[in-house]
Amino acid sequence: MDFLTHLGQTSPYPLGIEIERAEGLYLYDKQGNAYADLISGIAVSSLGHGHPTILSAIHAQVDRHLHTMVYGEFIQDAQMNFAEELLAILPSNLQSVYPVNSGTEAIEAAMKLTKRATGRHELIAFKGSYHGSTQGSMSISYNELKKTKYRPLLPGVSFIALNDWEGLANITVKTAGVFLETIQGDAGVRIPDLSFLQALRERCTATGTLLVFDEIQCGLGRTGRNFAFEHFGVIPDVLVLGKALGGGMPIGALVTSQELMAVFKDQPKLGHITTFGGHPVACAAAAAFLKVLKSEIRFDEVEASAAIFRSMIGNHPEILEVRNQGLMFAFDMASAERVERVVMRCLEKRILTFWFLSHPYSFRLAPPLTITPEEARTFAQEIYQAIEETKA
Ligand SMILES: Cc1ncc(COP(=O)(O)O)c(C=O)c1O
Repeated sequence: MDFLTHLGQTSPYPLGIEIERAEGLYLYDKQGNAYADLISGIAVSSLGHGHPTILSAIHAQVDRHLHTMVYGEFIQDAQMNFAEELLAILPSNLQSVYPVNSGTEAIEAAMKLTKRATGRHELIAFKGSYHGSTQGSMSISYNELKKTKYRPLLPGVSFIALNDWEGLANITVKTAGVFLETIQGDAGVRIPDLSFLQALRERCTATGTLLVFDEIQCGLGRTGRNFAFEHFGVIPDVLVLGKALGGGMPIGALVTSQELMAVFKDQPKLGHITTFGGHPVACAAAAAFLKVLKSEIRFDEVEASAAIFRSMIGNHPEILEVRNQGLMFAFDMASAERVERVVMRCLEKRILTFWFLSHPYSFRLAPPLTITPEEARTFAQEIYQAIEETKA
């Protein structure tokens, strides 16, 4: 059995590490080598690999029951516990959650919800956005290089630029929803201005347009708050989550008001359906993830580790700019080729860093939120060295 031919490939150059097991900050290959995972599977294993509370919640659920029925028919403790943990940390207008299997599915559901709730069909998204790889999510993602071979995609989608005030005029009474990653990930960690985000909120409210924040990558502690929107005090009508939510299990979630969520259930009923959405094992893991996020993650430590990465790596003269919020980082260099050499040198040192889908001039870090400031110092030093060692 050959990985490169018998398993579908997503790129000609996969990292190809043969994984044996994973624990805490480290992945172990079949030869017993330890790799420091400073990307968390791209913002997934935010509590490190195999957190004991998550593992025991999974084991307990496996022993009770697996899938029992398509989503929405049965009352299951795992789903109820998950909803209780999540809604307890969300504002009063975000009090109904629809669990699905992935980030992109949650985005698809959000797109449908905005259309159904407003009776409109036009959608607006942002330049630089990435919302997923299914055709709806791809339609509201910006990178034309990735989209062009799949056209035609959804009609009625247009893009405005982050922090472009004039672009807000494109949001009208015909716009069903505006989709924004509260902090853009694959564009290379782009942070909106507070005043722009406030104006965006006001414009959506004035036109009866639903504001959707995609916090699949930037949510759930990644930026040093439970949700990235907390940095701005701007609350969306719809929140979309995924990645870290399941503590390593596949789950996405759409969160909105009880009133808006109700549109899916009637006239016609079954407006959004899923066989595996709300899978009890994924929900048990998500409930445990949220418990640990609340009880064990100290955001002052997250900020301390972030400051160390920022200053120590950012100090290198070849780092042109650092953009971060909490432990979500982009480090800009002079060229894609320069970034590639640093990422590959780090890999030789058994430190996992990575690039961005749509921004080749940066390398990314998204270490687990559990990383200590001492560990941050050690790895920041190693990455600095990797930059030195790969100088032309
Ligand atoms: C901001 C954002 N939205 C949506 C997605 C899609 O999530 P998934 O890969 O789980 O479908 C991603 C994945 O990288 C993402 O970063």
